[in-house]
Amino acid sequence: MSVLVDNPVFQKCEAEPPANTDTLIYTPRQYPQVVKYMGSKAAILPFIAAELAKVHAEGRPFVDLFAGACAISGGFGHISKIISNDIQEYSAVIASTYLKRAEKIGKFDIVALANNIVSVNVAALPDDLDYPAECTLSEFNKTEKRNRALLDKDFNYTHHLFTRVYSGTWWSALQCVWIDAIREVLDSLLASGEIEKSDFDFGLTCLMHAMAYTSQGTGHYAQYRDAKTDLGMSDINKYRRVFVPTIFKKKFDTLLKWNLQNVVDRDHQLVAMDYRECLASLPPSVVYADPPYAFVHYSRFYHAMETIVKYDYPKIQHIGSKIVKGRYRVDRHQSPFCIKTQVKGAFVDLFSGVKDSGSDLLLSYSNTGMIDIDELMALASTAFGNTYDVWFDHMTHTHMTMGRREDRSRQVRESLIIAKKK
Ligand SMILES: C[S@@+](CC[C@H](N)C(=O)[O-])C[C@H]1O[C@@H](n2cnc3c(N)ncnc32)[C@H](O)[C@@H]1O
Repeated sequence: MSVLVDNPVFQKCEAEPPANTDTLIYTPRQYPQVVKYMGSKAAILPFIAAELAKVHAEGRPFVDLFAGACAISGGFGHISKIISNDIQEYSAVIASTYLKRAEKIGKFDIVALANNIVSVNVAALPDDLDYPAECTLSEFNKTEKRNRALLDKDFNYTHHLFTRVYSGTWWSALQCVWIDAIREVLDSLLASGEIEKSDFDFGLTCLMHAMAYTSQGTGHYAQYRDAKTDLGMSDINKYRRVFVPTIFKKKFDTLLKWNLQNVVDRDHQLVAMDYRECLASLPPSVVYADPPYAFVHYSRFYHAMETIVKYDYPKIQHIGSKIVKGRYRVDRHQSPFCIKTQVKGAFVDLFSGVKDSGSDLLLSYSNTGMIDIDELMALASTAFGNTYDVWFDHMTHTHMTMGRREDRSRQVRESLIIAKKK
């Protein structure tokens, strides 16, 4: 994963109002990230903080309109009331971990409870699903096929969603049985009233983390890898053999410590709405908007996170009679920001929604070819009219590629468009 390493350089553009007097209060806190997320803004929080200081006023909520993996809640949840929104439900679950205290879940040994379920459920599966440490490519692929065949099995217990749909894809059958069992434990603790919703969301966040770090994929769920060579097989097999409860428990312990030491109750709100609906419900606020800037839909890359959160046995997309390789939910969201013919209208709706709610806006901009910055500035100036100041700032920073590309580091430019009510 790429990380920010050195000092940002701020470039001021166009006239801008003075900053609030005390910029120190906007210093982002350190927080643990839980999943690898495309377009995460965790690395540029100091830049966002500096711009936030120019528009934020005491008492107004800070709205993270496209929250994703919730860098804003992680970094600023101690400073201000946050309203965290994203169309994907998993985002509100992650935000809860940064914004709501999980007071009760620490009393339970989730792994031990899940282990009781796993031992029963594994016994109901065929006994040839294990991945041996050493085998030939052909034997390995036969094991993969037997894992995937669980799709056609009838299950006589409730929590089998991942075992049926995802065995032999991003996870092995055994990993899926653990994922289902942990979800079952969380469901039953919530249903019996032994834990609260914030505890439940905390547990689900740790489960999403365990899913990410045991998956044989590259950090998202658009496509899983096939073993085509011995080298590919041995890399996939490494992940097949990682123990879900170990990763889950490690994150659970460190994240719970962080949550109980850092989470401040500021009446934060968690929502999972389309951004237009969310904007229509807002009091005057400061809105941070970080919409998608590419034609790829987040719902395709992170559908498995949505499914562990909804746990609704969704219909899976088929082409003809064949299930699609990515095993996507048929109801996955198509964002107007990712559709060339709709992107302009999507920004106009964003600007007018912010204006109608009497809010100020910080909009992250990435130059990926969907829309260029001049066009976006022109749209913003027209939509906000003369009752707002509109300007933009840039920051350049060094982006490490962790040696996976030929250049070990690259200069990356981050931009923010700011619209402040006069
Ligand atoms: C660039 S990512 C946000 C990343 C986030 N700032 C972070 O640091 O993790 C864009 C997000 O917009 C969300 N999104 C796409 N269309 C949306 C819509 N119509 N309403 C609300 N959220 C939407 C996606 O689910 C995705 O999480």
